[in-house]
Formats: sequence, C-alpha cells, structure tokens
Amino acid sequence: MTTTDHPSVGPDGVEEPSSSAFYEDDDAKVKLHFGIDPHEPWPDDVPRGQDDSRWRFQDNPKLARMAELKIAFCWILTLLAGIGFAVTYVVGGQTQAEGALLAVGFLGMGVGLILWARDLLPGTEVTASRGSHNVSDRSKREAAAEALNRTIDPIARRPFLFRLLGLVGGVFGLAALFPIASLGDRPHRSLYKTAWGPGVRVVDQDNQPLKPSDIKVNGILTVFPENGIDDAQSSTVLINLGNAPFDVRPGTQGWNIGGLVAFSKICTHAGCPVGLYNSTTHQLVCPCHQSTFDVLKGCNPVFGPASRSLPQLPLAVDTEGYLISSKGYQEPVGPGFWNRA
Ligand code: FES
Repeated sequence: MTTTDHPSVGPDGVEEPSSSAFYEDDDAKVKLHFGIDPHEPWPDDVPRGQDDSRWRFQDNPKLARMAELKIAFCWILTLLAGIGFAVTYVVGGQTQAEGALLAVGFLGMGVGLILWARDLLPGTEVTASRGSHNVSDRSKREAAAEALNRTIDPIARRPFLFRLLGLVGGVFGLAALFPIASLGDRPHRSLYKTAWGPGVRVVDQDNQPLKPSDIKVNGILTVFPENGIDDAQSSTVLINLGNAPFDVRPGTQGWNIGGLVAFSKICTHAGCPVGLYNSTTHQLVCPCHQSTFDVLKGCNPVFGPASRSLPQLPLAVDTEGYLISSKGYQEPVGPGFWNRA
C-alpha cells in the first residue's frame, strides 16, 4: 500500500494521517475496504510530494486569474444558454434548439465546476471512518468544524465566482422550470365529473336511446350519456348478465335493472378502454396490460395491475321505458392515481 508521498498538513503545520495511511497502518482494515485499492492521486491534480492542501495555481496569480476567467466564461455561456432556452420556449418552442441550449448550459456549468475544483481548490481528500453512532466528543466536533472551514475558505476567497455561480444557477434553474407550463391546466375537479347525472338517457354511438330489451343476455354494448358521445370520461359498458348471480356491493342496491349492469369503460390502471368481455367467465379484460375485472363481483380487479374496481353507473328506466342513469358516477372514473391527493 502506498501514499506516504501524499500527506496532509493541518492548520497548525502538524502532519495529519491521510486517508491512505489508514490503509497502510492496518491491513485488517484494507480488507474492510472491499478489496478496492486505496486512491492514487491524479498526477495532474497536485504534484507528487507536494502538500495536497495547496491548490494548483497557488504560486502563480496570473494563471489563477486566467483560470478564473475561463470558469467565468463557461458559466456566462450557461447563463446565455438559459436565457436563450427561456426565450425559445416562450416564443413557441423548437425542440432541437431547446435541447441544444440545455446541453450547452449543462456543459458550461459542469466544465466550470471541474476547472474550479482542479485549478483553484486544494486537492485535499478528507475521509473518515463511519465510527459509532454516538455523539462525538467535543474535540472531534471542533476538528470537524475546523475541517469544514478549511473547505469553505478557498471557495469564499473567490466572491466573484461564487456570486456568478449563484446568478447562473438561479437563472438557468428558473429557465429549466419553464416547460412546466407544457403540462397544461390543472384538472381540478373535472376528473371527478362526467356527463352522467340524474335522468340522463343512455344512448348508443348514434345517440339513439336504448331500452333494457336492446341488450341480449350475455351481450355488451358501449354506451354514452345522451348528447355526450364525445365525452371520453363518460364512456360506459352496459352488460346483460341474464340470470347469472352477481354480488351487489354495499351502497349499490337498485343500481341494476334485472341482470343489466353498467360500469365505466375506462380502466382504473392507466385509462385504456376496457372493451373485451368474456361472457363465459363474466370478466372484462383491458387490452393494454390485461387487467381483468370480475363483473359478477362488482367489476373487482382479479388480475393485472389495476388495483381498483371499475366504478358502477346507477341505472333506472324512465316513464317511456328508456334506460337512464339515476345519478352520476359516485367515484372518479379512470386511473386510480387521480384520487391520490
Ligand atoms: S390500462 Fe388497463 S391494464 Fe393498464
């Protein structure tokens, strides 16, 4: 094991054990390091044999100034890319241009940080064993605070870069938030509403009202609220179970007309139309991810990723014998994540 060539010196000039001395002194602990060799410093970071609390251009103010300017250039590039991105987005957006500007912005930010770390910050590596979970004693806490100050000092020494980084991070971060507007309006309560309501006639895809006798036993038909065929939220399946015994869930008594039941057609997993009906098993299957709903059990999911039953629509018959909904859906239709507030 190596690294006695890479000591670190404390503020009082006393040599401190480096992280690698840790490995050197105790072979048993090397094994605890999962067999990974101790870190070798990068040749370019700090010359071998040099105190690693020093930074690369410490003795050359001219080169340090040059490094500072290079970093500033990178970050100003990021700043301009961020402004360009925001402007491009606001004036209508152009995907390739926005992607290129984001790439330039992140690249400038990254290169600037790397240059700062390489040229203007000390190469000291600080490691500490995990130790016990007890509160450290006072001297250890003071040593930690001291080490932290030594880390912060070289950063605080460059207020120009520090402020520029804050400005660039703020502007670029703000610009990156602009696309949130593309998410559209908040849905608010609209997810909980459909065009169904008390006395709304049940119609087919031609907007023709239906009577209970229009659905044969074991038949299924996609139906809509009258004059609401375009309302995707409202699409519903009407199923005639005939004499098959089915469960009436609590609170849904009287929602069927004989064997005729109606359920939302929108899958509670991710919103696909649930249109495949197996009249032998009385199961509805969603073609997207094969969620299967048992119609005899109130369209309870029995297979697949859906975790919630299909909401049931309460049915009734009006004075002319046509099917109507006695009220709207009593729970949100569609994917279950809508009702996770
Ligand atoms: S959308 Fe129906 S199972 Fe995924």
